[in-house]
Amino acid sequence: MAILKIARMGHPVLRRPAEPVADPGSPEIARLVADMIETMADAGGVGLAAPQVHVPLRVVVYHVPAARDTDGEGHPLTVLVNPVLDLLGDDVDVAFEACLSLPGLAGAVPRYRRVGYRAIGVDGRPIEGEAAGFHARVLQHECDHLDGRLYPTRMADLTSFGFAEELRKPE
Ligand code: NI
Repeated sequence: MAILKIARMGHPVLRRPAEPVADPGSPEIARLVADMIETMADAGGVGLAAPQVHVPLRVVVYHVPAARDTDGEGHPLTVLVNPVLDLLGDDVDVAFEACLSLPGLAGAVPRYRRVGYRAIGVDGRPIEGEAAGFHARVLQHECDHLDGRLYPTRMADLTSFGFAEELRKPE
């Protein structure tokens, strides 16, 4: 296993759509996933998409710690290959997001409150479910990476975009 270098905003790999994985059960994908999990843990993130480690494939890893789960009891470490989201309903929440590819920055991002998701697991089996709140937000953020989008492009009001340390200061 290895800790991989994380691409930062502006790198071309973060700006183009990633390719579907042809063989989710291959040893190459297993190695990529293991490295992504190690890289995410080292960086202290809750999610990581393969383009963030310079690999233009549709793979994401994430977990939802119970303390941050707005709508449940947390979600264990999950690997999604070729994920597809269905946006459910019209409810939108606005909350702050950060991203390992924009170190130190944060911004308020509107996201759909509920999503359905379908994907292939690393064992080759189909995965599907529904998510709400922070879990749904993580899925939308990570799947955006697979389409070459970073969270600032989803922001409705860029006045909330800035360095997290500065945003925490009282007005
Ligand atoms: Ni991100």
